[in-house]
Amino acid sequence: MDKLIIEGGVPLTGQVRISGSKNAALPILFASILLSESVTFTNVPTLRDIHTTLKLLNLLGCPAEFNNGTVTITPCSLSPEAPYELVKTMRASVLCLGPLLARLGEARVAMPGGCAIGARPVNLHLSGLEKMGARFELEEGYIIGRCRKLKGAHVIFDFPTVGGTENLLMAACLAEGESILENAAKEPEVVDLANFLIRCGAKISGHGTSILQISGMPSLGGCSYPIMPDRIEAGTFIVAAGITGGELVLQNCPAEELDALLVKLTAMGMYFEQTEDGLLARRRNSSLHGVDIRTQPYPGFPTDMQAQVMALMCLADGPSLVEESIFENRFMHVQELVRMGADIRLSGRSAMVRGVRQFTGAPVMASDLRASASLVLAGLAAKGATQVQRIYHLDRGYEKIETKLVAVGARIRREKE
Ligand code: EPZ
Repeated sequence: MDKLIIEGGVPLTGQVRISGSKNAALPILFASILLSESVTFTNVPTLRDIHTTLKLLNLLGCPAEFNNGTVTITPCSLSPEAPYELVKTMRASVLCLGPLLARLGEARVAMPGGCAIGARPVNLHLSGLEKMGARFELEEGYIIGRCRKLKGAHVIFDFPTVGGTENLLMAACLAEGESILENAAKEPEVVDLANFLIRCGAKISGHGTSILQISGMPSLGGCSYPIMPDRIEAGTFIVAAGITGGELVLQNCPAEELDALLVKLTAMGMYFEQTEDGLLARRRNSSLHGVDIRTQPYPGFPTDMQAQVMALMCLADGPSLVEESIFENRFMHVQELVRMGADIRLSGRSAMVRGVRQFTGAPVMASDLRASASLVLAGLAAKGATQVQRIYHLDRGYEKIETKLVAVGARIRREKE
């Protein structure tokens, strides 16, 4: 396993190019299962989760080739089985369920286990697909789904689940008749998936709102499609500028999808300016102020930025209250930040952060993707050296993060543990 060694205290300055979005690319790659023709994607990030997805697609009968950010997929004779060995490493594998049922009428997908941030059930995926005519059994840890032909349905989600919306949106594109998905997720990644499907010939309206309407088609063609930039990677580098007291210009930054984050960071004392090279981010002056945040479905404050912003809050004057309303256990970074000198008190799904003068470098353990990013950010600001261990979590969602950080002045290197 690799670890990152960070010598903190350097204000980061320079330009960073934001890569393609992991959370847009994953559902869009699985949507290839729906297609009757080849498809090419550009701006695909080089990430562990992307390679896991391509391995799974190859097993499912969709040979995929990755070449320096471009992926070509040619759907062939599909197989219904997504094996546990792959699904256990990436929960998003459950996104093959809807497309397999829509194309094949059957699916055998290993039940995705929980993960560090929560139980991550898929009940809303299954109940929605059952409304469309699928029947499920759970056998030896596998979800076995069958249907004659999916039929359009009116589904109202209990919660605006991102993955559930994506699974049903994909399934509805080939179902017989009309579907309405209410209380659907509005995340930009869901919109990107809908835009991709429309380019393949799907009939979808309402994407970006909480009511999606889909008219099922007999088949979908291929196309060429660029993956949208990663708003969470962008937010992470924005915090890197703030936490180190530097100034970064983010190229290819989807600032219009970061409003809730930028409002809070501006209240904390950061300054933003759209330049011809991209979004400039720095502190307005030397001090940072505490703020309260509550994570919400889009367009609210993104849960995927909670850990990173908490690291910044640790250095602010005054207290900050963090409420994590999306996942039941997304504070795995807290004790590690406390090891670095942070003052954070947990109470259920809330964390009270009191600002301290500085972080002190220490050996810390990554536990999940965004917690890892939070520890790297704290290390960049810390006095002394920080070792972030088990950074395979980080590699799932950040493309070449230490290369990008070194390019803007960070003292960071990767070592074998
Ligand atoms: C997606 O996960 C993202 N992953 C997550 O990003 C992100 O944190 C999350 O959406 C929320 O924005 C990908 O897109 C690959 P949900 P997903 O279904 O689809 C509960 C990252 O760091 N729920 O909206 O799994 C669930 O337990 C990752 O990049 C049910 O109860 O999120 C959770 O509490 C982490 N039953 C809440 O809803 C269901 O059937 C949100 O889950 C489905 C979800």
